[in-house]
Amino acid sequence: MTEPYMMDMRPSPRILLGPGPSTVHPRVLRAMTLPVVGHLDPDFFQVMDDVSEMLRRIYGTSNPMTFPISATGTGGMEAACANILERGDTMVVCRNGYFGARLADIAERCGAETHIVDSPWGQPVDMDGLAALLDRLPRVKAVGVIHGETSTGVLNDLTSVIDLAHRHGALVIVDAVTSLGGHEMRMDEWDIDVCYSGAQKCLGAPPGLAPISFGPRAMEVVNTRESKVQSFYFSLKELETYWSGTRAYHHTAPISMTYSLREALSMAMEEGMDERIQRHARVAAVLRAGLHALGIGVLADPGHRLNPLTAAVIPDGVDDATVRRSLLEEHNIEIGGGLGDLRAKVWRIGLMGESARETNVFALLSALEIALSRQGYEVAQGSSLAAAQQELAQFS
Ligand SMILES: Cc1ncc(COP(=O)(O)O)c(C=O)c1O
Repeated sequence: MTEPYMMDMRPSPRILLGPGPSTVHPRVLRAMTLPVVGHLDPDFFQVMDDVSEMLRRIYGTSNPMTFPISATGTGGMEAACANILERGDTMVVCRNGYFGARLADIAERCGAETHIVDSPWGQPVDMDGLAALLDRLPRVKAVGVIHGETSTGVLNDLTSVIDLAHRHGALVIVDAVTSLGGHEMRMDEWDIDVCYSGAQKCLGAPPGLAPISFGPRAMEVVNTRESKVQSFYFSLKELETYWSGTRAYHHTAPISMTYSLREALSMAMEEGMDERIQRHARVAAVLRAGLHALGIGVLADPGHRLNPLTAAVIPDGVDDATVRRSLLEEHNIEIGGGLGDLRAKVWRIGLMGESARETNVFALLSALEIALSRQGYEVAQGSSLAAAQQELAQFS
């Protein structure tokens, strides 16, 4: 008898417009079918060097310690905190959404005395609150901030946080999981100490790798720690020997995943980072114009919007789950629901990497028009498409 698990897997060909993963280009998928070589094979060393070099370009850094951690974005968070923090250190986390809360949780688990600067979800980092806290605390080892808060669609201004933190002698840890490849990133110019990301969003690779970069100040902290990093897997000193030292074995690198990231980064290089960032801005503007025509607002204020992720406010009387189910089952389109207090209040629409295409916006808007009108929500058929088209015309 043929059991279900003996049959071919048939995942549906979704249009991924949620908070990640984003659509993976066939070229990137094809790269994963290349022969698996050993993690100590000279051919693989070349792939590692290529990946590091392209990541440095995308991060805007010359940091030697720039490479992908074998884990998802959360692994990047863990690696950043585990290497920088020692028991009893003080860390300040700017929390204006779900991922700021996760960063604070991880800092605490690393033994740091963790202080939070809260701002309401949907608002940017409270700079006055941060300044007051840094004035009050005697010695802060690091300040953590989420560049693109995927739970709310807010883009936090990094330069003001970095300036303030450095004036207080603290390192800056930046979460660029959603922003890297979709927004400008100038790690060296902005003087970021540690920055981590995820492969599956604007970089356009499947989930499973977390690019990370440690700057000189951060490396000095790592090199002069009193205690051992509590995580063997994420310990930078050990990873350093594999990625940029004698290439000694640390763990078996995920070969096929690394191929996929190399191809995705190569495609980003071919496109050009400025062009890629402009594309993310353009499709986000087209989406917002379409939503506006439907009477659907955006949670974040205009000056603080994250282009790869728009949190759209669900209109009164419209059922979140019914609409998302209709998009998925009838149109093969995935969008995300709200997290925490924003559950059933917002839709999280991701336009990241390969998913950030106008055709996807038009597909989503027409599917939304159908789903909304079915719920009795008044929609002038085609109005969102016309508005989106008008917005798009402004870019040509
Ligand atoms: C801003 C941000 N940080 C961290 C993460 C965690 O990444 P992952 O789910 O890949 O572990 C996410 C995931 O969506 C994110 O959006």
